[in-house]
Amino acid sequence: MKHFATIFYTCILLSSIFSYYLFKKEKRLHKSRAKLPPGSMGWPCIGETLKMYTQDPNVFFTSKQRRYGDIFKTHILGYPCVMLANPEAARFVLVSRPHLFKPTYPKSKEKLIGPSALFFHTGSYHACMRKLVQTSFSPEVTRKLIPDIEKLAISCLESWANGQVINTFNEMKKFAFEVGVLSIFGQLNKKYTDELKENYSILEKGYNCFPLKLPGTAYHKSLKARKRLNHILGEIVRENKENKFSSNLLGHLLNFRDENGNALSDEQIADNIIGVLFAAQDTTASVLTWILKYLTDDPKLLDAVKAEQKEICESEHGETWSSTWVMARKMPLTYRVILETMRKASVISFTFREAAVDVEYEGYLIPKGWKVMPLFRNIHHNPDFFAEPEKFDPFRFEKPPTPYTYMPFGTGTHACPGNELAKLEMLVLLHHMLTKYRWELVGSSNLIQYSPFPVPKNGLRARFMKEL
Ligand code: HEM
Repeated sequence: MKHFATIFYTCILLSSIFSYYLFKKEKRLHKSRAKLPPGSMGWPCIGETLKMYTQDPNVFFTSKQRRYGDIFKTHILGYPCVMLANPEAARFVLVSRPHLFKPTYPKSKEKLIGPSALFFHTGSYHACMRKLVQTSFSPEVTRKLIPDIEKLAISCLESWANGQVINTFNEMKKFAFEVGVLSIFGQLNKKYTDELKENYSILEKGYNCFPLKLPGTAYHKSLKARKRLNHILGEIVRENKENKFSSNLLGHLLNFRDENGNALSDEQIADNIIGVLFAAQDTTASVLTWILKYLTDDPKLLDAVKAEQKEICESEHGETWSSTWVMARKMPLTYRVILETMRKASVISFTFREAAVDVEYEGYLIPKGWKVMPLFRNIHHNPDFFAEPEKFDPFRFEKPPTPYTYMPFGTGTHACPGNELAKLEMLVLLHHMLTKYRWELVGSSNLIQYSPFPVPKNGLRARFMKEL
């Protein structure tokens, strides 16, 4: 009997080892059947980076997609990459298998923003921070900010209408920054707002420059400004420690306790605040700049949007100004102009992830460590989903787009938690701009600059005048 048991267990052990061996072999064979996507990798080290920048990134990606199809490989910014230009592939990476792909940013940028900012993370830390940010920018909270956002919009517009030519993008950045500060801190002492503004404007110059830490370089100045920002934010945190039950982001960050009862460190708070400012400013400002450009290019549409806004002005201002949702319903054309601008301009044309393991998708191998880039802009410009994609046509949004063909705010675990606030502040600014001001563009506005988001050349120079 004892013998029988030994033989039985030995057989089980051997068959398990054999099955494991077969499984591994099958996996290897399976793996070897998957091939890299089509495409070209360019020169050693630099890959196709120069080609991308000399051609304009949008033209580069579109010509590759035409040549190789929706999934192709390339080598840019020092990394081998797989580009994904169809909705199913974007969904696979961002929504259904996000655990196989981690967010990835250049180390130099991570250092400037702060390594604890939520978008560098996955797992439980990311989930906790995301919940705090989402709650702080929920419709219930942002709706209470409407009167203060209106004040900011009115004051910005007044400052533009002084006969001077303005750089629209720079002015929209100032507005988006002030709204960001308001939504993070509530009413903040002017001294702190000015200090944050001054140092953040130095910090942001380092985001996209060569990360050389030598004194005098933009990157070095940027690092120093980041240190000063830590100091300023530390002071604000100390002054507000007692005030931690307010519903803004600072209140939520101060109030947070993990499962062991630990609070966030000052660094974690600062990194997440700088992270939100980074995510909120240039994105919103570039969309607003493009709205101005597209409306100016189509006088008939501009008249129709103005008429819609003037109607609200005369009758139901108070009722309309209660949430993004109500505003969108009461001003459908203006809202669709925003949606169509985010499609046509696609200011975030793609996002970056990194394959955490070897991944197989649709018979293609995405090797571990390779960057994976869902190309939002290519999807937004695909004529199968958006007829005549180069045409600015807000009426196309009378019908909702097919799922995963329209992702201006991303999708999945890292989708934009600030999208309600972004739409709200754009609607508020547009209302006051369209009902009380007219403007003319100065100089050519048909070229694009990347800063790094696409905006019309020279930030769209314009002259604003108060409507009589
Ligand atoms: C029109 C303006 C905006 C656009 C087009 C935009 C777009 C996006 C996109 C595409 C993502 C996802 C990136 C990815 O998956 O890698 C994202 C993430 C994010 N956005 Fe926005 N955004 C805008 C405004 C804002 C505002 C106003 C805020 C804050 C108040 C904000 C805060 C964030 C944050 C914190 C993340 C990271 C979320 C995470 O990693 O979980 N954004 N945004």
